[in-house]
Amino acid sequence: MKKIQSVVAIAIVFMLAFACASKQATTSTSPIKEQVLSQMTMSTEQAEGKALFETNCAKCHKLYDPKNFSAEEWKPIVERMTKKARLAPEQGAKIYAYVSM
Ligand code: HEC
Repeated sequence: MKKIQSVVAIAIVFMLAFACASKQATTSTSPIKEQVLSQMTMSTEQAEGKALFETNCAKCHKLYDPKNFSAEEWKPIVERMTKKARLAPEQGAKIYAYVSM
């Protein structure tokens, strides 16, 4: 009787471990899916903004993740940083189009 109980307990532990593992697997693949989807739906302006962002915005500090700030928060930051990076306002607008996606 004790043996059956421990077998059941082990089975439950395995089932829980498997449930957690499969949950982790799905959450780790979704950012990639998101990225692919966002790239597919990116406008030329946003794609240009991404390139400008990646080449100009990591000179003084690490490249910030666009997701770290909301569109509202990005507005004054991009304005400030466009000047710091000595970029044209049109380039800043493209960067904003990308980071605020
Ligand atoms: C000339 C150097 C320089 C360049 C180029 C530069 N930054 Fe910055 N950045 C700074 C400094 C200094 C700070 C911290 C002080 C501040 O917030 O003004 C900062 C802070 C930031 C922050 C944090 C702001 C906050 O409120 O937490 C973000 C986001 C950022 N930069 C984005 C960018 C982007 C986007 C670009 C490209 C357009 C860029 N930076 C280019 C110097 C630079």
